[in-house]
Amino acid sequence: MSRILSVGSYAPTKVLTNDDLSKLVDTNDEWIVQRTGISNRHIVSDGETNLDIATKAAQIALAKSGLDKEEIDCILYATITPDTFTPSMACQLKRRLNIDRKNLLAFDINAACSGFVVALETAHHLLRSYSNILVVASDTMSRIIDWSDRGTCILFGDGAGAVVLTQSNFNPIFHSFTEHDITDSLKTNSIYDEHTYLSMKGTDVFKFAVNALTTCIRKELEEANTSIDNVDYILAHQANVRIISLACKQLGINEDKFYKNIQEYGNTSSASVPLVLAEMVEKKMLKKGQTVLFVAFGSGLTYSSCLWKLEGDIE
Ligand code: COA
Repeated sequence: MSRILSVGSYAPTKVLTNDDLSKLVDTNDEWIVQRTGISNRHIVSDGETNLDIATKAAQIALAKSGLDKEEIDCILYATITPDTFTPSMACQLKRRLNIDRKNLLAFDINAACSGFVVALETAHHLLRSYSNILVVASDTMSRIIDWSDRGTCILFGDGAGAVVLTQSNFNPIFHSFTEHDITDSLKTNSIYDEHTYLSMKGTDVFKFAVNALTTCIRKELEEANTSIDNVDYILAHQANVRIISLACKQLGINEDKFYKNIQEYGNTSSASVPLVLAEMVEKKMLKKGQTVLFVAFGSGLTYSSCLWKLEGDIE
């Protein structure tokens, strides 16, 4: 029921390097690169909002889709860092994009770093009733980072991605999981506290993430009754290069199947997978007829994946 017409992405222009972070906390470039693969992350400037960066990504995706903005009848906005609780970011984006039509469904999705893939699954089902869906995944993690916690502040960055989906005859295979986070390994404190920030038990999350990646990839291949050789690329959540390496080792997969851009953006939560997609499209790595596997994991604990055949080129 779904075809991806186009993709757009945007990362704020302000860059925070590992050396910059070493002035804030007791860390260094060598440790961060070796333990995570991250060199830079892009961070919103004072006054720059989640909606600002999402709008830029959405405008690119819309322009490339070949559709008129009034042909969009549904907007899904994946985020865990909304600028406001209400109106939803999806409603605010409709207004910012000057989409006039009223018969449009708009709502936010809170599925942490799995947000983009969860939004794809939601969009796929909604495409039975709606014609063209704008999916946006945008997070400003820098707003909820404790900049004195070296265990988390080195990992995250800000970014936004967007895709336009339209109806087609193709049915991607989705798998979504929700597990109890029994050690409270990845969470924010209460929104009613003076400051809301993210806390993490790195080792617990690392183990969860490797298991999430391997489980999703195995499930996708099993259900499609295919082998990894028939998958052209895996577009995975960019959390730590060592998570990908270990998953590859456990699955016996060549790491070249995975596209990585974590070195430049860090973990951008829901935006991470569409930032990968946009970069691969930009580099003309994706072509009609290829099969790609999207997979992401995050707080919840959630993990989601889908096997997607590209019915046409993605603009
Ligand atoms: N800079 C320098 N040293 C650091 C450091 C930093 N930023 N953070 C931790 N260390 C130190 C620790 O204090 C520890 O020192 P010790 O041996 O003297 O006690 C040592 O480095 C190893 O710490 P550890 O926590 O075991 O490191 P790690 O290899 O597990 O890496 C993470 C830590 C956070 C990078 C890793 O656990 C991770 O990536 N977890 C998953 C995070 C994630 O993906 N979250 C989002 C999921 S959506």
